[in-house]
Amino acid sequence: MAIRLLILVQLVLPLVAAAPRSLEAAALHPIVLVPGYATNELDARLTELYRPSSPRCGERKGKGWFRLYLNYSALQDPANVPCFAEQMSSVYDAASDDYYNVPGVETRVPSFGSTQAFRFPDPDRKNFSYMNAFVERLEKMGYRDGETMFGAPYDFRYVVAPAGRPSKAGDAFLRALKGLVERASRLNGGRPVTIVTHSNGGPLTHQLLVRQPLAWRRRFVRRFLPIAAPWGGIVVGMLLLVSGNNYGLPFVDARALLAAGRSQSTSIWWLPSPSPAVFGTTQPLVVTRSRNYSAGDVAEYLVDIGLGEAVGPYESRVLPLFGAELPPPGVPVTNIVGVGVGTTERIVYPGDGFHGTPDTVAGDGDGVVNLASALAVETQWKKDYRLVKVSNVTHNGLVADDRALDIVIREIQRAN
Ligand SMILES: *[C@@H]1O[C@H](CO)[C@@H](O)[C@H](O)[C@H]1NC(C)=O
Ligand SMILES: *[C@@H]1O[C@H](CO)[C@@H](O)[C@H](O)[C@H]1NC(C)=O
Ligand SMILES: *[C@@H]1O[C@H](CO)[C@@H](O)[C@H](O)[C@H]1NC(C)=O
Ligand SMILES: *[C@@H]1O[C@H](CO)[C@@H](O)[C@H](O)[C@H]1NC(C)=O
Repeated sequence: MAIRLLILVQLVLPLVAAAPRSLEAAALHPIVLVPGYATNELDARLTELYRPSSPRCGERKGKGWFRLYLNYSALQDPANVPCFAEQMSSVYDAASDDYYNVPGVETRVPSFGSTQAFRFPDPDRKNFSYMNAFVERLEKMGYRDGETMFGAPYDFRYVVAPAGRPSKAGDAFLRALKGLVERASRLNGGRPVTIVTHSNGGPLTHQLLVRQPLAWRRRFVRRFLPIAAPWGGIVVGMLLLVSGNNYGLPFVDARALLAAGRSQSTSIWWLPSPSPAVFGTTQPLVVTRSRNYSAGDVAEYLVDIGLGEAVGPYESRVLPLFGAELPPPGVPVTNIVGVGVGTTERIVYPGDGFHGTPDTVAGDGDGVVNLASALAVETQWKKDYRLVKVSNVTHNGLVADDRALDIVIREIQRAN
């Protein structure tokens, strides 16, 4: 009797423990979210090696970890912006062919594995968010953080290099993302994972997929749903290297962040691709009185804007990945693309150089990603490929706007 009871308990308990919360949850494939650029938190610590440009910038030296990105209220004080800029900068070392933090600045990405990492880039500022509404909608579907839903934040200043080239930060992220996909599957009875990305998270995840054996992809990935992914750069990427990128914070002077932006490997990842499937080499993207630059002239453009040191990394680390059509990821794909929003397609400077405020000519896209870039994979990714166009919603709105989220959630349900 005792033995029979024991057997019964052993048989029943695991079943009870594994019982899903609801029928709906039972149908869910685990989901891994990979956010876009500058969406998640980034901590920093200043060591003795740090040489601050001013005493103010050195105030945190030796005092442990603090939140470098995002501290919204700190950046509202213009006096803090130069310190933020210098601590967010990175350095390309030609000898080792890799990018690093500036000496004395250590960084870490908190909450890897959890969507908490990017619900609010500044958790003290709950009314500033890129991903919270999306995560809430997934919770309504039955997804639970750490059980069926996982987040893959990253140090967005870094990208990955072509296979075989050094990329300490990029390789670490791909390893962590791979481990997270495997863990998500393992925690859910071996079910393959739906990977949903926004913006820059798309090309990063694509790099993970194409570097895994096909058997791994088939076993662990149910479907890849990139939202607003730039597959062949963005025209605005050329502008950001001249005007600076203020992380979408209107009160921050973008010029104060120009040097920091120029130093990051991510900034040259976004340069428009000369592939015939994207911008080609004849369409003028930047126009000055004395010459035109197409996507085929990016190296000369870098020299002419005073960023000649980026030509080497651009040619050895960016063009090999984006200069031709991207290989299919080998898993089913739903490419979710924004259309109908004016998106910078040509930048026209009034004079011979890059001074003054340029005029911009808009084409189709999501306001950031040109439609040509969003659709650049169309001809190569035919197998198990589904295209979903969302009209009149901005790049960030595609993961925040109610109507866009209805469409995104429907596509995730379909993938289940
Ligand atoms: C954000 O910055 C403000 C002003 O510099 C500072 O008082 C506050 O402690 C910072 N918040 C965090 C979480 O570091
Ligand atoms: C956002 O929240 C902050 C306080 O955290 C508040 O000062 C600010 O007015 C809010 N902004 C909006 C647009 O609600
Ligand atoms: C640049 O391109 C524009 C638009 O195609 C064209 O009108 C202009 O003549 C070109 N300028 C030069 C200097 O090639
Ligand atoms: C998008 O905007 C255009 C132009 O304003 C309009 O004609 C079209 O109906 C809109 N589409 C949707 C789905 O709202």
